[in-house]
Amino acid sequence: MYGGVVPEIASRMHAEVITLILDELWKKVDVTMDDVDAVAVTYAPGLMGSLLVGVEAAKALALAFDKPLIAVNHMAGHIYANNLEQKMEYPLLALVVSGGHTDLLLMNGDYDFKKLGSTLDDAIGECYDKVARVLGLKYPGGPNIEKMAREGNFTYNLPVAMNDDSFNFSFSGLKSNIINLVHNEKQRGNEIRKADLAYSFQKVAVDQLKRKVEKAFNNYSVKSFILAGGVSANNYLRQEMTDLAEKYNIKFNVPKFVYCTDNAAMIGAAAYPLFLQQRFANYDLNAQSYDEIY
Ligand code: KG4
Ligand code: ZN
Repeated sequence: MYGGVVPEIASRMHAEVITLILDELWKKVDVTMDDVDAVAVTYAPGLMGSLLVGVEAAKALALAFDKPLIAVNHMAGHIYANNLEQKMEYPLLALVVSGGHTDLLLMNGDYDFKKLGSTLDDAIGECYDKVARVLGLKYPGGPNIEKMAREGNFTYNLPVAMNDDSFNFSFSGLKSNIINLVHNEKQRGNEIRKADLAYSFQKVAVDQLKRKVEKAFNNYSVKSFILAGGVSANNYLRQEMTDLAEKYNIKFNVPKFVYCTDNAAMIGAAAYPLFLQQRFANYDLNAQSYDEIY
């Protein structure tokens, strides 16, 4: 049992299962490679070892079946998960919240991203996972904090960060504050009210997101607002953002739960506009651990 993803183990597992998964897929779906128009693959950002396995498998498929290859950015995948059930309406405000990203973006069309702000330190998902760890909850911590917070109240006085004019975020101060608080209470032999701490953390973290989204609503005139990334599976966040968008009369969308955390459907959705624009990759496509598309 590890408290997260171990890169070496993750890449070996990718190598072990990639062909087995494809084999299983062809048995389950009523589709053959004849029906497929192109092969899309995540090339960045992430762990090199895992990305390389996918990139090479996709190249092999594209070459063997003579299909175009499409390189998709993982974060574009999270955003385009919002296109799976309905079309995104531009201009659009996107809040991307995952284990590695906390970004606020404006989109004026397909693949037309303008970054308004992002986290100056930890991503919100990373913060959920660290707070879960000090509360003795299993990885990934987000869903476990959410569950625990349902029984809690707002009783802990936690620091409010980034009460400023920027569109940036910060979560490391909140994380350190909670780690120190738990440590000090333990030293004094005091009980930690875990549910209350989980709720208080979640409220302060989501309030920060809300402040920046509200600022963006006031500064830019957008038609719609979307949530993307693993943390968008959080019900408390979904509800708070639904209410905020309603207050401003802005159309709101968040992907279905299964399309919030990492999945392949979102990569297909993000590949589609690239396919329409014939933006294909070459066979020298490489994986990249880090790549900003916006
Ligand atoms: O997008 P994702 O699946 O992987 C990355 O690209 O990072 O996001 C994973 C992150 C983890 O930090 C996990 O704790 C968080 O999303 N997460 C949640 C919830 N479900 C997943 N955070 C809060 N509440 C949830 N229900
Ligand atoms: Zn992700």
